[in-house]
Amino acid sequence: MNVLQLSYSTSGRTFSVHLQIQKTPLTLEIDHPLVNLWSHLWRSFSKTWEFGPLYIVDNGKEEAQVPEPKLLTQVKEGLRHHVPEPIEDGVNGAYFLKNEEGENIAVFKPKEEEGNKSPKKSKDEEKVLDRGIYDGEGIQREVAAYYLDKDHFAGVPETLIAELEINGVNQIGSLQRFVDNDGSSWDMGPSKFPVKQVHKIGILDLRIHNNDRHGGNILFKENEEDGQIELIPIDHGLSLSHSFEHAWFDWISWPQAKVPFDKETLNYIESIDIQSDARLLKTLGIREECIRTMIISSTLLKKGAAAGLTLYEIASMASRTDLMESSKLEDMFEMATKEAKTEEELYTIMWSLMDEESYRAADPQWSPSKSLY
Ligand SMILES: Nc1ncnc2c1ncn2[C@@H]1O[C@H](COP(=O)(O)OP(=O)(O)O)[C@@H](O)[C@H]1O
Ligand SMILES: [Mg+2]
Repeated sequence: MNVLQLSYSTSGRTFSVHLQIQKTPLTLEIDHPLVNLWSHLWRSFSKTWEFGPLYIVDNGKEEAQVPEPKLLTQVKEGLRHHVPEPIEDGVNGAYFLKNEEGENIAVFKPKEEEGNKSPKKSKDEEKVLDRGIYDGEGIQREVAAYYLDKDHFAGVPETLIAELEINGVNQIGSLQRFVDNDGSSWDMGPSKFPVKQVHKIGILDLRIHNNDRHGGNILFKENEEDGQIELIPIDHGLSLSHSFEHAWFDWISWPQAKVPFDKETLNYIESIDIQSDARLLKTLGIREECIRTMIISSTLLKKGAAAGLTLYEIASMASRTDLMESSKLEDMFEMATKEAKTEEELYTIMWSLMDEESYRAADPQWSPSKSLY
């Protein structure tokens, strides 16, 4: 049984909710977009989840039922001694935060420094490409990727929403555990990457319909003893878009993507519970049309894998192989949107189109009439 413990505390003017989903603590400030969370929680989970006690604590007294995440405590300690270090890489505002000893322990990305508001962007630059996600929505997605990463299969580093004082201003942002690494996949090239490591990232990207999986967003770490390489997926702010045109997967051109999934990976794909993922995204305040993206994109992954397709074959349907031409997924969605009168019908049409496409990709001789016999 999943236990969700809630406590609600006020200190001065700030409210925060400390909650625990499947034993993982999450702290949210209540005066930001995730405020919706409060009502969503009751609506989405009250039927299926068992609640721990709800505490309402007043008069500025803090009394969290669930302890503050250790990472947040360490970061707050560190901020007393060390200033945040702006990160040069990437396009959004981002900072390395230190522990008391001055070691990097987290990456903080403020909501107010996303996209067009990034301090790395000069006023004369053109607007950041619209990829179906609004500025300020990235931090929810960073957290969503972490929570969707069931059993830490893909290894998204621990991520939470936090409010911290950065450059003298209180800022809300995503706080992600810093991962010791030897660089990004751009620095090394993919030839030494284990197949399974590439598959785990591909599976995550298909589930969240990632629009930004360039090589710089895959860190790697080489094990000193056996030389094995671990890949670490970061930067999920540009995922869960409301449109399908911008999916981007650098690994699609890597040979590992053409290797069939092994049994364990297939079992994992089968175990993904899309309805439960949808409830989780709702809790995090993700827009309905973006939740729909996850449902559609994850279903394509499941149907494709069940039909025996490789990661490469599935990803070639989910993203543009020629940038000037729409992807199979875009075409299917357009067709279904035209035909469907209700949301339910849209899904029904999508599922049968996906089945057809998957069978055809697995067997070029396949035709709908052939399946009748
Ligand atoms: N969890 C992490 N551990 C270590 N380094 C990180 C982590 N997250 C980000 N970085 C570093 O910070 C850079 C910028 O972070 P990223 O999330 O990619 O931001 P942007 O959205 O601006 O591209 C990354 O390219 C990487 O070098
Ligand atoms: Mg990046």
